[in-house]
Amino acid sequence: MRPARGRQRTGLQSMDNRNNTIAGWVLFAGICALGLSIGTGMLSASHAPEKPGFPIEDTESASGGGAAAVPLPNLLAAADVEKGKAVFAKCAACHTIDQGGANGIGPNLFGALGKPHGHVPGFAYSAALKGVPGNWDFAGMDAWLTKPSKYAPGTKMSFAGLGSAEDRANLIVYLNSMGSNLPLPAPEAVPAEGEAPAEGAAPAEGEAPAEGAAAPAAGAAPAAAPAPAEAKK
Ligand code: HEC
Repeated sequence: MRPARGRQRTGLQSMDNRNNTIAGWVLFAGICALGLSIGTGMLSASHAPEKPGFPIEDTESASGGGAAAVPLPNLLAAADVEKGKAVFAKCAACHTIDQGGANGIGPNLFGALGKPHGHVPGFAYSAALKGVPGNWDFAGMDAWLTKPSKYAPGTKMSFAGLGSAEDRANLIVYLNSMGSNLPLPAPEAVPAEGEAPAEGAAPAEGEAPAEGAAAPAAGAAPAAAPAPAEAKK
């Protein structure tokens, strides 16, 4: 009797132990899996910023399809020198722009627009930038400021680029005002789909509907709506 009970008891106990051990391993495996997923999560989290560092501006400038939507000459025509001066704060860590200003990490930029790439004698330009043929023109400067590393792959200018087409246009007219004073390119006539082209491209057409719309609006409100519609046709 006793030995049998004893056996039974020990049998049960060892079952319990085995169950506990199995439960323990399951728990342990679960913790390991959790730890792994947290670990890999942290790993990929700590890796993620390394790549997007540049592409963030990249996608912005790519979607800066503002450049595609509004042609550069039109942006330049509407640009503001004072706003451009404010944008230049992003460049001032490396560049001076006053006449005869010292070179910093980057060359002095007085009168750069219109000059050959690498216009300051004695500045140690990269071969990449020096090798770009031709002079700095408005379109080239816009491309350069969008993404220097694309305009002159291998350039020493470690600046990601400006995503906003308006910021670039403002900056370019500011650069132009500092020693270059090139004539701005003529704004392009844009197919009259949006409202913006009418303002810039065709002053005569643009003004007419605007006046037409304003006059009826002042007088009789209901007449205002049909008038511009007729004017367009
Ligand atoms: C981190 C420093 C740095 C910043 C910020 C920087 N640049 Fe530069 N820039 C340089 C360097 C270095 C060069 C020379 C590049 C080379 O030789 O490849 C350069 C070259 C240039 C050139 C060519 C000049 C020439 O003589 O051909 C222009 C134009 C220019 N930068 C404009 C700008 C503007 C505008 C900004 C602000 C949006 C800016 N840079 C921001 C360092 C900088």
